Amino acid sequence: MIPQHVFIALTGASGSLYGLRLAEQLVLNSVQVTFCASCSGTAVCREETGLDLSGDLEKAGGRLREHLEITSGITLVHPDDLFCPVASGSSAPDAMVVVPCSMGTLARIAVGVSGNLIERCADVMLKERRPLLLVPRETPLSDIHLENMLKLSRSGARIIPAMPAFYSQPDTILDLVDFVVGKILDQLGMDNDLYKRWGSR
Ligand SMILES: Cc1cc2nc3c(=O)[nH]c(=O)nc-3n(C[C@H](O)[C@H](O)[C@H](O)COP(=O)(O)O)c2cc1C
Repeated sequence: MIPQHVFIALTGASGSLYGLRLAEQLVLNSVQVTFCASCSGTAVCREETGLDLSGDLEKAGGRLREHLEITSGITLVHPDDLFCPVASGSSAPDAMVVVPCSMGTLARIAVGVSGNLIERCADVMLKERRPLLLVPRETPLSDIHLENMLKLSRSGARIIPAMPAFYSQPDTILDLVDFVVGKILDQLGMDNDLYKRWGSR
């Protein structure tokens, strides 16, 4: 089933570009996006892209839309807003993508902490058996990271590491980003030509 509503969580791992590009692509494909950045995600995003998602939500949402060059289809929510509809199984999104996913958020999801909206919604997705896609970025990986990923994979989450391939012969940073974002869209069941598929040339 192609999702109509996707919750994107941008956390404090490097790779804010992945989350922003995914949001843009989903909105352009008429998918409703609820977008949430953790406090660290907000800081890393500002560092990496210049986009400031802090402060007043309405103004920050405007800056997000301006950055993505879209006018609607995306709602910015605060990570402390546990009253947000996506915090409940009765109103869960069709899919959730944590991109990029920090090892901290990954660990807290793995043990069911549910301490903020991102962790709570991920917990809801697992208990409701809905698609939860995690896009971790860290290197090297410790045993703890690997064990958490295995535990989450066995619980139904899909682990899509931010690991662009080079067989598609990327020319630009956007090509590298689009390889990963294309893989995420594949997992959401959405047709895309964001990356060159092997054998397509
Ligand atoms: C510039 C910068 C880059 C970071 N990159 C990573 C990373 O790639 N992976 C990771 O797991 N943590 C990374 N961190 C650390 C996380 O931001 C930190 O563990 C934070 O507490 C995660 O919080 P969150 O999970 O609530 O977003 C980075 C921090 C900074 C300041």
